[in-house]
Amino acid sequence: MRILTLCGSLRARSSNRAVLNAFARLVPPGVRVEHFDRLGSLPHFNPDTDFEPLPAEVSSLRSLVAHADVLVISTPEYVHGLPGSFKNALDWLVSDPAFAGKPVAILHASRGSSWALDSLREVLATMSARIIEAAVVPLPLGSSQIDEEAILQREDLRRLLEGAVVAVVADAVGKGYVASAPPNPR
Ligand SMILES: Cc1cc2nc3c(=O)[nH]c(=O)nc-3n(C[C@H](O)[C@H](O)[C@H](O)COP(=O)(O)O)c2cc1C
Repeated sequence: MRILTLCGSLRARSSNRAVLNAFARLVPPGVRVEHFDRLGSLPHFNPDTDFEPLPAEVSSLRSLVAHADVLVISTPEYVHGLPGSFKNALDWLVSDPAFAGKPVAILHASRGSSWALDSLREVLATMSARIIEAAVVPLPLGSSQIDEEAILQREDLRRLLEGAVVAVVADAVGKGYVASAPPNPR
């Protein structure tokens, strides 16, 4: 089973990236997690260039999406919406036939607002992705900067992420992607 994570933040010390890294450390053996980390290298979406040969970074993103059984997204909220660079990446996936029906988990690094989550849900539904509802997980990070280690050390956050892993794997098992396995007890 292959999981692709998409982080909506370009920040070097992104808490959303930390959430995705922490999630990746909890998956059971046999589950491969890849991170798409070239969000900032994608060209601005333009329907005039949404044809083969596609820009190299777009081809790379689409190939990763095509080979992923599940996408796991964590994104910040910017001015009550999705960050522009992240929406840009989603726009490049609109015409990608591999995206329709793709299972998606959302790790919502909640800071008390749900504009970005609501917007993401609307965009994904419009793009015909299949949101795994049991893997839409609000994570009460609090207002301060937090890194991967601190997330895994916080019992409440760790349990929520383990629940997300179980939901993602259970969904994939239901689709016949992997044999049943509990979260890795690291
Ligand atoms: C330009 C900008 C706009 C933001 N707008 C909002 C907002 O509307 N609502 C909110 O809850 N947080 C907002 N924030 C705070 C970010 O969502 C928060 O800092 C988040 O942790 C950033 O994610 P990251 O750590 O992964 O980069 C904004 C931050 C920036 C830089």
